[in-house]
Amino acid sequence: MGADKKHSIARFLMPTTSDPLPTYALPPFKESENAELSARIEAVRQKWGERLVILGHHYQQDEVIAHSDLRGDSLGLSQKAAASEHCRVIAFCGVHFMAETADILANRPEKLQDRGGERVSVLLPDMAAGCSMADMAEVDQVEAAWSELSEHVDTKKIVPVTYINSAASLKAFCGRHGGIVCTSSNAESVLRWAFERGDRVFFFPDQHLGRNTAMSMGIDPAEMPVWDPYADFGGGNEAAELQQSRVLLWKGHCSVHQMFTAAHVAQFRQQYPQIKILVHPECPREVYEIADEAGSTAKIIDVVRQAPAGTQWAIGTELHLVNRLKQEHPEQEIHFLSPVVCMCATMYRIDLAHLCWTLENLDAGTPVGTIEVDPEIARWSLVALERMLELS
Ligand code: 13P
Ligand code: SF4
Repeated sequence: MGADKKHSIARFLMPTTSDPLPTYALPPFKESENAELSARIEAVRQKWGERLVILGHHYQQDEVIAHSDLRGDSLGLSQKAAASEHCRVIAFCGVHFMAETADILANRPEKLQDRGGERVSVLLPDMAAGCSMADMAEVDQVEAAWSELSEHVDTKKIVPVTYINSAASLKAFCGRHGGIVCTSSNAESVLRWAFERGDRVFFFPDQHLGRNTAMSMGIDPAEMPVWDPYADFGGGNEAAELQQSRVLLWKGHCSVHQMFTAAHVAQFRQQYPQIKILVHPECPREVYEIADEAGSTAKIIDVVRQAPAGTQWAIGTELHLVNRLKQEHPEQEIHFLSPVVCMCATMYRIDLAHLCWTLENLDAGTPVGTIEVDPEIARWSLVALERMLELS
């Protein structure tokens, strides 16, 4: 297992994929003006019409969102694009795991049959737009952990649950082992589903979403050991801790949401006694527990939309979304929960230059940044995704 546990900084910078990373040149027009790039992007959009769908995740920069046909959260975007009858190409302005999910859902067997076998191509405008959290749980590390766990507990009674922010290979692992995928909006119903099928859950890769959700369900934190894939034995736990566990948490986190602290919450409450604290469940437990409300990006947007004018908010999620909420809701007083910049650096890699380059290559018949999940991995990932989709 030693080699599996080697920590590699490069893995945190590059997307996790079962395919070798392609090598290709960077966009040659990186320095072009935004207005020129926008015009070129729009020219390809006009030409391709409904065959091309550009997706923009809520954390994306405004100038990219301006060219998106759909704006949304990671699962919602993939589902909407997969449902589109005319779409043949998806340009996913998000991160690698989102593009993989779009490929799996848009090219599932019944969709392929409806289109007479024609695939939808999914393009990620920058292949280095990975998710550092997803990269913290590589499938070979998970397999090694599963095998080591079998020395202490009956793995047939463990239900593996992976957050959608994970590589397709980890989703496939969950599919093969009777497990399931969750999102930040359905994690609690997914954990209930899992406990109807097993004694214990192994939750990947975000320890905070796993802990926050399980604690909201009344599970004692003492029954939630954290599995560190770099520890020498038992993920850093005694055998008894593993045997008494109900939720085993993988030692992963979001580098953006881990920046919010309980001290930030206290400072805002002291300065603005009426303020409401609204956070994403990827935030650490000490922030989540004292927040007024928590939820996925979609829920955060809904809560702000529905609040009475004049409500004061301090929001703990990615900076671009919070700034957009400020612009779109001048009737509310919105603050960013942290004094430091917390933005998703990998999402930010996708800019107008990369989008333009991707679309012009598509139009020239030389596509770049194609995400095509290995068929066997896609098949088992779909099993885990469909278990979740059947719950909603
Ligand atoms: P959503 O699924 O809520 O869009 O969240 C994605 C994400 O990466 C949050 O960090
Ligand atoms: Fe991943 Fe965090 Fe970025 Fe979301 S915000 S894509 S979890 S690194």
